[in-house]
Amino acid sequence: MASALRLALRKATPARSAFAATRFASTSAKQSTLKERLAELIPAEIENVKAIRAEHGQKTFGQVTVDQVYGGMRGLPALLWDGSVLDPEEGIRFRGKTIEECQAALPKAPGGSEPLPEGLFWLLLTGEIPTPEQVNQLSKEWAARAALPEFVEEIIDRCPGTLHPMSQFSMAVTALNHDSSFAKAYSEGISKKEYWGHTFEDSMDLIAKLPNIAGRIYQNVYGKGKPAPIDPSKDYSWNLAHVLGFSDNEAFVELMRLYIVIHSDHEGGNVSAHTGKLVGSALSDPFLAFGASLNGLAGPLHGLANQEVLVWLRKMQDKIGSNASDEAVKEYVWSTLKGGQVVPGYGHAVLRKTDPRYTAQRAFALKHLPEDPLFKLVGQVYNIVPDILLEAGKAKNPWPNVDAHSGALLTHYGLHQMQFYTVLFGVSRAFGVAAQLIWDRALGAPLERPKSYSSEAIKKMFANRK
Ligand SMILES: CC(C)(COP(=O)(O)OP(=O)(O)OC[C@H]1O[C@@H](n2cnc3c(N)ncnc32)[C@H](O)[C@@H]1OP(=O)(O)O)[C@@H](O)C(=O)NCCC(=O)NCCS
Repeated sequence: MASALRLALRKATPARSAFAATRFASTSAKQSTLKERLAELIPAEIENVKAIRAEHGQKTFGQVTVDQVYGGMRGLPALLWDGSVLDPEEGIRFRGKTIEECQAALPKAPGGSEPLPEGLFWLLLTGEIPTPEQVNQLSKEWAARAALPEFVEEIIDRCPGTLHPMSQFSMAVTALNHDSSFAKAYSEGISKKEYWGHTFEDSMDLIAKLPNIAGRIYQNVYGKGKPAPIDPSKDYSWNLAHVLGFSDNEAFVELMRLYIVIHSDHEGGNVSAHTGKLVGSALSDPFLAFGASLNGLAGPLHGLANQEVLVWLRKMQDKIGSNASDEAVKEYVWSTLKGGQVVPGYGHAVLRKTDPRYTAQRAFALKHLPEDPLFKLVGQVYNIVPDILLEAGKAKNPWPNVDAHSGALLTHYGLHQMQFYTVLFGVSRAFGVAAQLIWDRALGAPLERPKSYSSEAIKKMFANRK
């Protein structure tokens, strides 16, 4: 995309978010349920989209270059999603709010200081900050929907412990489609106006059941017996920590709250978010759509990078020792690059600065575990890697992303099983994908079908053009 266009889009983004936030916030928040509130907001948003398309529908964003077609569609404006917007310099905003603003504004658990993911889901869907009562209501509703069908438990139980937890996760989520409200209603013949309501029901079930799926995989693979039962008096993150066996540690529960919020959504174009949207556009139900998202998240250039970072740090410690000098770390980073590998946790397809999700985790570590040796190593690496990536001259962004930090925090609290880390990312990402699916069905988003070209066609098309 031409740089002028990119600049224009960057400038336009905050204004658009502010517009959306004001519009949503102008309707005073009542003690309605999330579904009732959405039902109130959807008609106005349908009109808003109609008006935008009527006024601007035939205008162009700019040019599409041949390099973009070959280059993973970087920067190609092709998707709509109001829930979150990613600015290359500033990082993510959820409905116009930075991570810090979310930390300040979203309701907390009694005695807690991190935002509850229940509130973030409400914010993603409505653009509004819910009341503590509304958040409490969501915690209760998710706890009430948390039980897994027996056959899904059996699928997980039958998986060999050697099967990657992400493969088990995606199978279990896909199998939930057995009880999909959307799939059942569609097969019986429903009006398009009813799509979003069934998608909402499935999405609520999906999010609610993820702790039990994650807990069962964790306990099966790492040999701790069956997961503890969900406690309906507790919030979602407490229950996630509980099924993993960590709910006694309040700091870990707080970490889960922050972790889910910052991993929930990263605008619409990243692999997991876009996959969910794409598959959902075929009217595949949320379980099928999110199962596909998870398969994308399981790739090492995307969510699996949080596992890769820890593997890389551990290999580094094995090779150069635990209290290695900066010189030794530098040499190790160079050896990674010279071996034709990427430095996991660094670089980003959109971001061009340190990821604020990294910064939020660093702030958490400084508060809760400032003396942790692995945290110190993560900090040492942060002081060294960007300069090396700049010197190497390939990566467009030398700064750390979210995955550079999360593993060190989880390890500190005793969650050492690196292969499990992306499952926690997946639990979190469901919040963004589900919110997007609900709005897509509410706005009648059509089947996605971009055009592909052959290299031959591209050569012919531009043969006589300068
Ligand atoms: C995230 C990532 C996939 C983005 O890819 P991208 O948009 O193609 O990145 P760039 O445009 O900067 O890539 C240009 C070149 O720099 C390289 N590069 C990018 N990040 C790099 C890193 N962390 N270490 C080494 N090389 C890197 C790319 O592999 C590419 O090399 P190539 O020209 O030989 O193919 C990439 O930065 C990466 O692989 N990072 C490590 C994995 C990771 O942390 N993933 C989680 C992302 S949230």
